[in-house]
Amino acid sequence: MLRSLSVSRNALRKMKKIAVAQPIIEEQEISNVLKALHDGAISGFYGVYIELFEKNFAEYCGCSHAVAVSSGTAALHIALAAIGVKQGDEVIVATMTNMATFFAVHYLGAVPVPIDIEADTLNINPLLIEDKITTKTKAVIVVHLFGHPVDMDPVNKIACKHNLFVIEDCAEAHGAQYKGKKVGGLGSIGCFSFYANKIITTGEGGMCTTNDPVIANKISSLKSLAFGKSNKFMHSDIGFNYRMTNIQAAIGCAQLEKISDIIDMKRSMAHKYNALLHDCDYLQLPDEKPYARNVYWMYHVVLRGNVSERRSEIMRSLALEGIETRETFIPYNLQENLPLNPSIKKDDCPVANDVAYKGFYLPSGPIIKDDDIAYIADKLKKIISSTVA
Ligand SMILES: Cc1ncc(COP(=O)(O)O)c(C=O)c1O
Repeated sequence: MLRSLSVSRNALRKMKKIAVAQPIIEEQEISNVLKALHDGAISGFYGVYIELFEKNFAEYCGCSHAVAVSSGTAALHIALAAIGVKQGDEVIVATMTNMATFFAVHYLGAVPVPIDIEADTLNINPLLIEDKITTKTKAVIVVHLFGHPVDMDPVNKIACKHNLFVIEDCAEAHGAQYKGKKVGGLGSIGCFSFYANKIITTGEGGMCTTNDPVIANKISSLKSLAFGKSNKFMHSDIGFNYRMTNIQAAIGCAQLEKISDIIDMKRSMAHKYNALLHDCDYLQLPDEKPYARNVYWMYHVVLRGNVSERRSEIMRSLALEGIETRETFIPYNLQENLPLNPSIKKDDCPVANDVAYKGFYLPSGPIIKDDDIAYIADKLKKIISSTVA
């Protein structure tokens, strides 16, 4: 029996799923990939697109160098390796992040030191960094979370005073600006991800940006097995294979051409949500500090007041209305299955802990329709009201 013939309009509406993110893939991406394939240039060694993507991305970020790699995680790992982070070193990291940021530190046998966040931007709280610096501290990793840039001046001041490297995790913040400057060139190395849900994508992929030619050369060498110069197989170091392929870079070149449009669409999406949700007392909305140009990678909200402990229920109700959502990250200090340093206590980062089980993000794709934003905001407010009642 064809039941679909009698499906109600309401049920049809619910069958429609509004995804948290969707990439924009157009003719240019397809024709670039076809060219890479026709040229037979499919690896990370040959073809025109890798160098072009690196050159254009560096220019976009206002940096002198960019080195394409295979993922954002690889970018972080290789950045730390390039500055010489090793077993026993300590690396200060914003606790609220995708755990890839912390894993990169673990890969090198170094010790991550989690730092709590600011309640409004959800980024690392620069005021808490200095207390955690020891003689073993080598670097600070800041994360421009959900597209809002970190307050970099105080971070750089502390890093300069203690002779530390600053790594920017820009995985979620391509094109975000701090005091008019794009992220990626605000510290020693910027690390980007081009995973499918990022501001621009290559499917999987990453990039390291820097203004330091020595670091750029080191990363270029390390990403490709540190092959020797005069004799290729007399290796200069213990390298990785973190090469981006020409096919991925072909997509990246096309994506980069539309990055400004994508960011405009993201900002417009966030402004529409803001206008519809600002009067809901039970939601903390994303912030944009006077120093910041937020690119709103994801529109992240935090439940407040009486509904703050009811996230699962609210997310489930939204799912029943066809609205996909995703929980916020669990901070490093609350991870239960990782080999945490015994000196790290669960309640070390109370601000992050307060957001961890109350935050989630709403559908935030750049081509989300105005109708869908209105529908989501309406459903969210109604679900919250019925949860409070
Ligand atoms: C903040 C942050 N850092 C690092 C990564 C890792 O990037 P990738 O998935 O490309 O390895 C991600 C996300 O995927 C991220 O959101």
